[in-house]
Amino acid sequence: MAGTITGNKGLQQEEALIFEQDSPGQSGVDLPAPDAVPSRLGEAARTAPVGLPGLSEPQVVRHYLRISQKNYAIDAGMYPLGSCTMKHNPRLNEKMARLPGFADIHPLQPESTVQGALALINECARWLTTLTGMPGVAMSPAAGAHGELTGLMTIRAALEDRGGPRKRVLVPESAHGTNPASAHMCGYTVEAIPADETGRVDLAALKDRIDDDVAAVMITNPNTCGLFEGDMKNMSDAIHAAGGYVYCDGANFNAIVGRVRPGDLGIDSMHLNLHKTFSTPHGGGGPGAGPVVLSAALVPYAPLPYVVAGEDGFHLVEHADNAEGKPYGRMKGFHGQFGVFVRALAYMMSMGADGLRQASGDAVLNANYLLAALEDDLSLPYPGPCMHEVLFDDHFLKDTGVTTLDFAKAMIDEGVHPMTMYFPLVVHGALLMEPTETESKAALDSFVGMIKGLASEAKAGNTELFDEAPRHTPRRRLDETTAARSPVLRWRPALE
Ligand SMILES: Cc1ncc(COP(=O)(O)O)c(C=O)c1O
Repeated sequence: MAGTITGNKGLQQEEALIFEQDSPGQSGVDLPAPDAVPSRLGEAARTAPVGLPGLSEPQVVRHYLRISQKNYAIDAGMYPLGSCTMKHNPRLNEKMARLPGFADIHPLQPESTVQGALALINECARWLTTLTGMPGVAMSPAAGAHGELTGLMTIRAALEDRGGPRKRVLVPESAHGTNPASAHMCGYTVEAIPADETGRVDLAALKDRIDDDVAAVMITNPNTCGLFEGDMKNMSDAIHAAGGYVYCDGANFNAIVGRVRPGDLGIDSMHLNLHKTFSTPHGGGGPGAGPVVLSAALVPYAPLPYVVAGEDGFHLVEHADNAEGKPYGRMKGFHGQFGVFVRALAYMMSMGADGLRQASGDAVLNANYLLAALEDDLSLPYPGPCMHEVLFDDHFLKDTGVTTLDFAKAMIDEGVHPMTMYFPLVVHGALLMEPTETESKAALDSFVGMIKGLASEAKAGNTELFDEAPRHTPRRRLDETTAARSPVLRWRPALE
C-alpha cells in the first residue's frame, strides 16, 4: 500500500519463557566457589536450589532484546497517541539523571549531604513557577492524576479554613477520566458541563451551575479536543465571584509553554505532567511527576514537604510546626520523583526559554499540518486550527463496515502506533492524533500517506484489511470491543 512505513513481519515468532530456555549448568558468570562461611541464619537458611534458569550471558541478552523488539516504543517510530505526548526524550536528560551524585542519594540522608539535590528541586520549582506565572508549587505529586488530587485537596483545605469545604465540583464532559475521579476521591459530587458546538466549554451552561456550593471548576486547557479554551478568564472570574476556585488540568501545557501563563488566566491550581511536557520517558504507568502550581490564595495550604532557601543553605520543611502556612499534610512519603525533576530541569535548561517556546509552537504547527493534510480524507468534528493535537471522528467510516478500532489495528500492521481512540467521548468514534514537535516533516508526510492509504481502502470496501488486523504482530487482535464499549470505561454523568 502507498505510504507504508515499515512492516512488522518477522516479529511473529513466539519467544519461549526464559525458564523454558534453561540449559542446566549454563551460567552468565564464572566465579570461584565461595569459601565456607558459617551461616547466621541457622535452620532458616534455604538449602534446596532456588531454581533460577541456567543461561549464558548472550542467551539472556538475546532473549530480552528479542522481547523488546516485539514491543513498540517512541524510540522505534512515531507514536501519535493523543493526550499522551509521546515525544522523543533527549538522551542528555538521561545522562544527567544517571550522574552518581543524583542517582545514588537516599531520601533519608542528612540535609547537609544533599544540598545539591535540594538546590535542584528548588531550581526546577523556580522554572515551573516562572513558566506558569504562579507564585508557588507543590513538587511532590507523583503523576498527573496525583496532582489533580493534590490540587483539589489544597482547594478543600482553603475552603475548610474559610468555613466549609462546599459540595460540588464542575467538570466539562470532555475531561480526562482522572478529573472526575480525583474530585470524587476528594469527597465532591461531580457535575458535568456540556461542550458548545465548537468543542469548548459551554460558558452559559457553566455559569448557570455556579453557586456558593461549588468548590471548584476543573478545566483542561488546551482541552482534550485539542482546542484552546478562550473563555478561561471569564470562567475564572465567574467561579471566583462565587467564592470557588479554578483547577486547571495542565496535562496539555506542552501546547502553550512560553506563550500563555496560566496564572494570568485566573487559575488557582494546576498540575504539570513533567513526564509529558518536560520530556521524561513514560508509558505503562510511570515514572512520572505531577507538580502542582498554586495561586497566592492557595500557597499557604500547600502540602508538605517543600524546599526553602535559607542563608545557610537549603532546608526541607517536613513538619507542619515548621511551616509558615497551614499545610494539610503530605501526599507522598518523600520529596517527589527526584529522577524526573533532574530530567525536567536538564530539558528546560538545555532548551532555554526560547527553545521551550519554539517547542510549543512546533507541536501546534505539526498538529495543524496533520489537520490540513487529512481533513479531506478523515472527518473533522470541530473546525481548526487546533492546538497540539487534532481530533477526528468516525464519520468518514460511515457505511464502510470499518470502525475506529479496526482502523487503529490496521495502523499497527503499517508499523505505527495508533492514535488515541474513543477519547474524548464528546465525539463519535474519536481518533485523537498528537504528533508532537519531535517529528520531522518527512515523518509526518510518511504518516499522512499511510493514513490516506488506509482511509481510501476503507472507503473502497476492502474490509478484510481491517477485520483481520493486526496480521503481522506477535499477538493477533485481542477482544477489545467489549472493553471499548464497556460502561465502566466511559465517564458521562447525566447532563440533564
Ligand atoms: C488531560 C489529562 N489529564 C490528566 C492525565 C493524567 O496524568 P497521569 O497519567 O500522569 O496521571 C492525563 C494523562 O494522560 C491527561 O491526558
